[in-house]
Amino acid sequence: MLVRVLHGILALALVAFSTTSLAAKISAEDYQRVVNEAYRMFKDVDEGANADYIPILATVPSNLFGVAIVTRDGEVYAAGELDYEFSIQSVSKPFTASLIMQQQGPRTLREKIGVEPTGLPFNSKIAVEIYEERSVNPMVNAGAIAAVSLVEADSEKERWKQVLGNIEDYAGRDLKVLEDVYDSEYETAWGNRAIANLLFNYGRLYSEPEQALRVYTRQCSIGINTLDLAMMGATLANEGINPKTGKRVLAKEHIPELLAIMATAGFYDESGEWMYRAGLPAKTGVGGGIIAVVPGKFAIATFSPPLNPAGNSVRGLRAIGHIAAELGVGLYGPNAGE
Ligand code: DON
Repeated sequence: MLVRVLHGILALALVAFSTTSLAAKISAEDYQRVVNEAYRMFKDVDEGANADYIPILATVPSNLFGVAIVTRDGEVYAAGELDYEFSIQSVSKPFTASLIMQQQGPRTLREKIGVEPTGLPFNSKIAVEIYEERSVNPMVNAGAIAAVSLVEADSEKERWKQVLGNIEDYAGRDLKVLEDVYDSEYETAWGNRAIANLLFNYGRLYSEPEQALRVYTRQCSIGINTLDLAMMGATLANEGINPKTGKRVLAKEHIPELLAIMATAGFYDESGEWMYRAGLPAKTGVGGGIIAVVPGKFAIATFSPPLNPAGNSVRGLRAIGHIAAELGVGLYGPNAGE
């Protein structure tokens, strides 16, 4: 009996030792070193171009570049542009998907939106026609507009309040809409309006289409900086609890499903290429933001407006690829990072 108890204690001690030693493997110096390195290596890359289908995004200075890591304990390591407020755009999508999971569970998300990657661009209308789920997954525009329409709300005001409040909980501070970005996008949102109407036509939109379009466009126009994005990602890395405020935003058991959708569709039709490069669940936005999550450990965020043809930030994806490779944190083992 005594031997058994001793065995048990020894096993527990070993587990505790290996978990702490794993968690302690990356030092503060290492985190800061890779962040500095990534900033230095990619700040002068001049490939890609700002998004201009939302006219105002073309006016954001293309040289801005920020890199940040926030750990699950809330430690911050950063370099470059950290204060500039840019529009969150599609980086908002996993967070509203999280709100739906929190309110209605992952099964509803799968049944009413879908979880399949499209292999098609983020604004594809063909995807709505060819896939029976129509909205397909919450990372593309169709699924994200459907997600907004699924939020439990009796009015547009209430719908917006919940969407904004949830993203503020992830960031750990009050946020504001960049009204000039909202106007610029809403005035030119013919493609997204078509998507909202198509979804409604197929019974895959759960509120009045123009209301869903307005709330979705406002969600994309929320202003955030590089550190906010890293804190939002760190909340996912910290199993749904914001490291700064201590508030639980998503139940721990829903984190794996959310990260799975980010891994398979976070880079749209470039998601395979991205997982090959970095091996991490991530989400990009046409404002130039990217977040990547190392589950249970930390998040990496970048901001740099010039995008590649798939709509993903060129400097950002290289910087995160480099950091993931240097720290050896790809989900399937250390990736090459390129
Ligand atoms: O709906 C749109 O087109 C934009 N508000 C968001 C698209 C986006 O960020 C795509 N991401 N890389």
